[in-house]
Amino acid sequence: MRHVWPPGGPPGELDRAALAEVYAYPAHPARPFVRVNFVASADGAVADAASGLSGGLAAPGDRQVFGLLRELADVVLAGAGTVRTEGYRGVRTTPGRRARRRARGQAEVPPVAVVTTTASAIGPDDALLTDTAVPPLLLTTASAAEQARRRLGGAAEVVALGEDDVAPAAALGALADRGLHRVLCEGGPTLFGAFAAAGLVDELCLSLAPQLAGAGPGRILDGPAGGGPPTPLRLASAVAHDDALLLRYRTARGDAADPP
Ligand SMILES: NC(=O)c1ccc[n+]([C@@H]2O[C@H](COP(=O)([O-])OP(=O)(O)OC[C@H]3O[C@@H](n4cnc5c(N)ncnc54)[C@H](OP(=O)(O)O)[C@@H]3O)[C@@H](O)[C@H]2O)c1
Repeated sequence: MRHVWPPGGPPGELDRAALAEVYAYPAHPARPFVRVNFVASADGAVADAASGLSGGLAAPGDRQVFGLLRELADVVLAGAGTVRTEGYRGVRTTPGRRARRRARGQAEVPPVAVVTTTASAIGPDDALLTDTAVPPLLLTTASAAEQARRRLGGAAEVVALGEDDVAPAAALGALADRGLHRVLCEGGPTLFGAFAAAGLVDELCLSLAPQLAGAGPGRILDGPAGGGPPTPLRLASAVAHDDALLLRYRTARGDAADPP
């Protein structure tokens, strides 16, 4: 299904219920369904050149979609670089969000799961651990896990998944073991690159911010050059709002799991 609202969009907020229909996950995913969410400037920047943060790109419609995608997900997955740079804390909630999640058979608040080789960027005083309704998951390597458990105590669930690196498939396996199938990957570019290279991306939600950020910031996907051929995408929905474009693309993998 393709949704295109007229440029400029309806005034004020986007309709929450209509948006929730557009962004609904497949009803009963038999395996983790990986939705990736990014905002980029019209000239392709992943962050605001001055601050190095994504917040400088976000338009009101994008902020609304960002919150909605978190509300719909079983787990928010992010790389340690994003958690560190963007100052992650636990997912914010409201009584309404909790009630809607309960009605969908989901836990009231989704945990944040951090992918990190070393786990060194996460400390016991970080808001990710101290300002959250549910403990985060740390998906890390065997060599880092023991020390991380000692440092963080029970404030995070530390999961050892590999010797030197956390393979995206292993990360998804650990989430599936915990019943976390509706995955929202918020990047950053390095983690997205790893998932794309592994062929494990089902959907890309891309908000195109109405600005030229200028030279400097990188792209939404990063990693070693010379990977495989390009991954074709199908435009599944497009919403125009306040000069921003809120795009949702499906890969063939995503379409196979949830046929259009
Ligand atoms: N525009 C947007 O929507 C958006 C979204 C997210 C981020 N950003 C921006 O992106 C920038 C950060 O980029 P980034 O590439 O550094 O972010 P990132 O992918 O979140 O972080 C990279 C780090 O994550 C860990 N990691 C990633 N893949 C891993 C794997 N397969 N196995 C083990 N560890 C893995 C490693 O941490 P360790 O070093 O701990 O091992 C790695 O150094 C910031 O400027 C942020 O603001 C923008």
